[in-house]
Amino acid sequence: MFKIYLASSNPHKAVEIGEFLKEIAEVLIHPEYEPPLEEGESFRENAIIKAKALSELIPQELVLGEDSGLVVPFLGGAPGVKSHRFSALGTDLSNIEKLLSALKPASGKDRRAYFVSYGVLMRGGKILWEGEGRVEGEITLQSIGEGGFGYDPIFFYPPLGKTFAQLTKEEKNRVSHRGRMLSLLKEFLTKTGG
Ligand code: IMP
Repeated sequence: MFKIYLASSNPHKAVEIGEFLKEIAEVLIHPEYEPPLEEGESFRENAIIKAKALSELIPQELVLGEDSGLVVPFLGGAPGVKSHRFSALGTDLSNIEKLLSALKPASGKDRRAYFVSYGVLMRGGKILWEGEGRVEGEITLQSIGEGGFGYDPIFFYPPLGKTFAQLTKEEKNRVSHRGRMLSLLKEFLTKTGG
């Protein structure tokens, strides 16, 4: 069993990641982790910034930095790396409102979007593994569903005919960007010998 500290203060992510890796790793949040400013221009850069900040605090431990976001090609890639602070208020609700109004002029195929999750596993400031997961979907006209977090209520996933907010945690992990990134990480950990 591995012990992995997650460079995040987002409890939703910790639950999703902990659930996914539970057979192979215990996923912990460090109480002294202070989220650094995410000033990178890519998901990868931000994942490294987060992992480094935690690795400096606990150099002997395995740490996972993860950065994710929603990319809408019609909006030139926005909200992208700025997904969590897309609107001035930065709440899930206000981010959703801003995105829906930005997409008012968009036709059906312009509403295509994808989520990205980039993961970086580090120890002592050194990258041991890195990988990316993606999932494609469409932005709905209004929020549908109560589960998940962030943009889940407006992210429609055609193969299941539901938004991410209508999926159980297990269903979401099976198809989501984070789930896909984590299954690559799981493969690496399994090979390394967990
Ligand atoms: P991060 O904590 O910097 O990675 O911020 C990622 C932001 O992207 C979150 O605050 C959400 O707004 C959005 N996001 C990332 N993953 C998801 C997801 O699985 N569902 C919904 N929104 C997500």
